[in-house]
Amino acid sequence: MKIFSNLAISLDGKIATRKRELFLLGTKHDHQEMQRLRKKADLILIGASTLRGYKKPNLISGQKRQPINAIVSSSLDGISPRWPFFTDPQIRRVLFVGPNTPAHRLRKFEKTSEIVILNRPTKRAPAATQIVTWCNKNGLKSLLVEGGGAVMWDFTSAHLIQEYHVTLTPKIIGGEKAATLVDGEGFLAKAILNLKLKSQKVIGDEIFLVYEKL
Ligand SMILES: NC(=O)c1ccc[n+]([C@@H]2O[C@H](COP(=O)([O-])OP(=O)(O)OC[C@H]3O[C@@H](n4cnc5c(N)ncnc54)[C@H](OP(=O)(O)O)[C@@H]3O)[C@@H](O)[C@H]2O)c1
Repeated sequence: MKIFSNLAISLDGKIATRKRELFLLGTKHDHQEMQRLRKKADLILIGASTLRGYKKPNLISGQKRQPINAIVSSSLDGISPRWPFFTDPQIRRVLFVGPNTPAHRLRKFEKTSEIVILNRPTKRAPAATQIVTWCNKNGLKSLLVEGGGAVMWDFTSAHLIQEYHVTLTPKIIGGEKAATLVDGEGFLAKAILNLKLKSQKVIGDEIFLVYEKL
């Protein structure tokens, strides 16, 4: 299965402000690139924090076939089934949830979403690997990770992303608590992930980069 990511970053590598406010980092060119990449995806995955901010599904505009919209969350806390993400009739939804999600909370999402309860993550089977296994079992051919930084770490640390699509935008966000392209625990020097530049394209003040796994 093809696994790729697509996020926009500021010059200092951030994907959001420290308050996780909702704002557009990229221009319309970045939006077009996002739409182009979504067309290659059977499933788009985001983290629960990204959903808490956006609340809407991740769609391809003007197209009938939509990728499965999936989220990963430890317990679905602070997520409402009334959000447009859950009420949009166009999409199939999958919720990958932690094993301790309370049953009463799961019931609120049963009608609108497929719920996949993850096993407690281990070194050999982190959440990302379990999600990929589910995708393979369900015959999916491509998984697009759209962030944020916590979910990116899950996939990056398990060496699962084959292509990193990154839009470098001419902005500086700053802040040690602002989300970055890849957060989590981070690698130590001996384990740093090395990538190879596959393509680059400059449009206006943005640079569209594609890095691939070695
Ligand atoms: N610039 C861009 O291209 C871009 C793209 C995407 C997002 N963003 C922004 O990035 C910010 C969010 O990023 P973030 O790093 O704070 O959060 P995130 O990655 O969107 O979501 C983190 C949450 O995902 C769940 N999660 C992650 N790994 C998990 C695991 N292994 N098992 C179970 N649940 C897991 C947890 O949900 P629970 O809290 O439910 O436990 C965790 O708190 C938002 O402001 C968003 O707008 C920007």
